[in-house]
Amino acid sequence: MASPRLHGRRLVLGVCGSIACYKAVSLLRLFKAEGAEVRVAMTSAATKFVTPLTFETLSQHPVATEQFARHQEMVHLTWGEEADAIVIAPCTANMLAKAALGLADDLLSTMLLAARCPLIAAPAMDGGMWDHVAVQTHVATLRHRGATIIDPEIGPLASGRTGRGRLTAESTILETVIERVAPRQDFSGRRVLISAGPTREPLDPVRFLSNHSSGKMGYAVAEAARIRGAEVILVTGPTSIPIPPAMEVIHVATAEEMHKALASRLGWADLVVMAAAVADHRPKRVSSQKLKKSAGLLTRLDLEPTPDILTSLSRLKTTQCMVGFSAETENLVSHAQAKLRSKGLDLIVANNVLEQGAGFGSETNKVTMIDRQGTITHLELMPKRTVADRLLDVARTLMQGPPRLDHTPGM
Ligand code: PMT
Repeated sequence: MASPRLHGRRLVLGVCGSIACYKAVSLLRLFKAEGAEVRVAMTSAATKFVTPLTFETLSQHPVATEQFARHQEMVHLTWGEEADAIVIAPCTANMLAKAALGLADDLLSTMLLAARCPLIAAPAMDGGMWDHVAVQTHVATLRHRGATIIDPEIGPLASGRTGRGRLTAESTILETVIERVAPRQDFSGRRVLISAGPTREPLDPVRFLSNHSSGKMGYAVAEAARIRGAEVILVTGPTSIPIPPAMEVIHVATAEEMHKALASRLGWADLVVMAAAVADHRPKRVSSQKLKKSAGLLTRLDLEPTPDILTSLSRLKTTQCMVGFSAETENLVSHAQAKLRSKGLDLIVANNVLEQGAGFGSETNKVTMIDRQGTITHLELMPKRTVADRLLDVARTLMQGPPRLDHTPGM
């Protein structure tokens, strides 16, 4: 085998009471074969299907089963704190509910509350339970919080019925875990220039024109690119998001400042992602003094266009892959296609900002991607971080040639 992809990673494998428990044994073997250090926590129902001894032998560690066992003191705190991820497979409807609601009435659910690492759960259940609105609500809650829930598959179930509820293949769970805790470095050597947040166009020293952008979408792209090995420069309008680690962050306020910051670094970049919500207009005159009501502020405001940053960058670009966003309230695809063409882009990511859970401020987004060849990809509602990865997947295929060798910033 090539070098083990989970080498040095610590996983907690949570096993719940399901007939699919036996598959957790082969999953454990796959994790071990990829170099992971694995501790196993079983619910008491799980121990009815497979004995702890099986997991103990294969993991070469004691298996945790009891919240109050003397020899397992503080396991519910320390394992989750030390792990790179908790993987629950199979995960029952009961455990999904406990995780979503924050209940802690056994070892595994208590561990979930104490842990700060990612949760990856592969549910398995019978009798149409997966489709129940309660289960789907808990799944949505957990996904909203950033957990990865791997949908069960359709097929014959233990009851003899056929339906969605089978634990997904162990190999799929393995690949999902690798993607989450040891992501590919497919942007290694690449340089990504990203804009995020709103711009503020001042009227006077105390007032400005702006919009509802929180910066979450652009910051998610920056974070995803960094984790996948890219060097990142993030040009951000005013937001309340903490400064992300291991990247250069340039703070700007106006469209003009954002334009200058991006244009001066364009030559450095391989990929430009313009997620910022740039104000299209600014006041023609900025008063040096606070405007008085008597000056007619409320009845008359003279505006002029701000620079179209993307169009300007596309004209200056050489080999850079250019990605824009498109914030729409109607005719999503046709409006985005027009912007793709007029702004000279390789890819446009369109979102309907009126849709629930999409656009400004939310943790999630629902986007349609259109590339320069006209390929249209509709994505379902998902966390902005996942949208960011899907965007980078497409951008990666559109970027040509190997990474460049020169590393001169600000060219
Ligand atoms: O920040 P969040 O709260 O997470 O919200 C995310 C978002 C809704 C801001 C994001 O998903 C998004 O849609 N960003 C683009 C917003 C926008 O300005 O869309 P637009 O359709 O008006 O502009 C099209 C593209 O041109 C955008 O890439 C924009 O950055 C760019 N543009 C716009 C105006 C301008 N003067 N110069 C530009 O470069």
